[in-house]
Amino acid sequence: MSFETGNKRHPFRMIAKTLFGLEEILSQELVDLGASKLNNMNRSVEFYGDKRLLYEANLWCRTATRILKPFASFKAANEKELYQEVYKIDWEKYLGIEQTFAIDAVITKSQFTNSLYVAQKTKDAIVDQFRDKSGRRPSVELNNPDIRINIYIYKNECRLAIDSSGEPLFKRGYRRKTGKAPLNEVLAAGIVMQSEWDKKSSFVDAMCGSGTIVIEAALLARNIAPGLTRKQFGFMNWPDYDKELFGSVCSKAREAVIPKLNFEILGADLREAAVYDSKDNAKEAGVVENIRFKHSAIKDLIPPEPPGVLIINPPYGERISINEIEELYHSIGDAFKHNFTDYDAFVFSGNLKAAKNIGLRTSRRIQLYNGSIECRLLKFEMYSGSRK
Ligand SMILES: C[S@@+](CC[C@H](N)C(=O)[O-])C[C@H]1O[C@@H](n2cnc3c(N)ncnc32)[C@H](O)[C@@H]1O
Repeated sequence: MSFETGNKRHPFRMIAKTLFGLEEILSQELVDLGASKLNNMNRSVEFYGDKRLLYEANLWCRTATRILKPFASFKAANEKELYQEVYKIDWEKYLGIEQTFAIDAVITKSQFTNSLYVAQKTKDAIVDQFRDKSGRRPSVELNNPDIRINIYIYKNECRLAIDSSGEPLFKRGYRRKTGKAPLNEVLAAGIVMQSEWDKKSSFVDAMCGSGTIVIEAALLARNIAPGLTRKQFGFMNWPDYDKELFGSVCSKAREAVIPKLNFEILGADLREAAVYDSKDNAKEAGVVENIRFKHSAIKDLIPPEPPGVLIINPPYGERISINEIEELYHSIGDAFKHNFTDYDAFVFSGNLKAAKNIGLRTSRRIQLYNGSIECRLLKFEMYSGSRK
């Protein structure tokens, strides 16, 4: 097997996948790491760099869900052509016969409509090539494969990429316990970054659930690479895996950690069990000393000294009545007015109708998605006097 590994003079192309609305933030994260020739696309950012950057992007990007390395593209009008084009690729370059693999297929605006069928055809062509050459074939393993191949089809343009992340990057590894509706870690980090919090003033999540938002805020403020708690990345199974290089990327990340913070991060929740879960998760993430947790309703919460940023992700109302949800959002507005003076307060919600009951003027509205639910991150500036 052999790989195009790239160097600073001849970088290779990569694609960082993300969630809708986080493309610009991810692009800035990649620029900060030294990526070049960036191109923001829908839910992804194309960029160029070398192997070190591939490792750094996996370790450091808070808003990337995967880092892909494309290696082939072709046109295919139907399944037969798809099979033939996939068969033409020299698969021994990317996959060892003893390794397990899986195919992820994503289809947009195409005559191909069934992503499972596309994945199946791609797999057939790969397996048939191995079998025709050597009489043996690598096995498919859907859950934890050694090698993940991504096929993306837009109209009749097909792009094949190898997935350097393996398990998606939002699986940071720290979240052992969760409540009913935990946020995806990448989304939580993206929300914190969208708030433009300065990382040196107070930070509060008054409805912290399993603690994802405050944990991501603490990781960000302490400059802890979000991938440092992960044990496994896809690139570790690649033939060109450079253990020493990845070791040096991790050592540099450990040296970059800011040991302590001199402001308060507070996570609170009405449910006592949520407070315990959050604490356990923060411990796993290595930031439990940086977050104070409190069992409290938002209306009774006394926040740390302003200025500060408050972010809440209240229930959207799936499990409670319309009256109760309207009342809840109304009480959020009251709490903002009474308890959070001189804070920038943000509400992340998928229930825009209920959010109207907050009854305050928004200064920003950012469109994001929580899975398939269209959401808004609403900003309320709770200044006591006129804004300087
Ligand atoms: C959607 S969950 C938050 C999920 C969280 N962002 C996470 O990643 O796990 C909403 C949380 O709000 C809490 N909650 C509901 N009403 C509250 C209130 N009045 N005051 C404080 N917390 C409240 C719930 O107990 C629940 O944990």
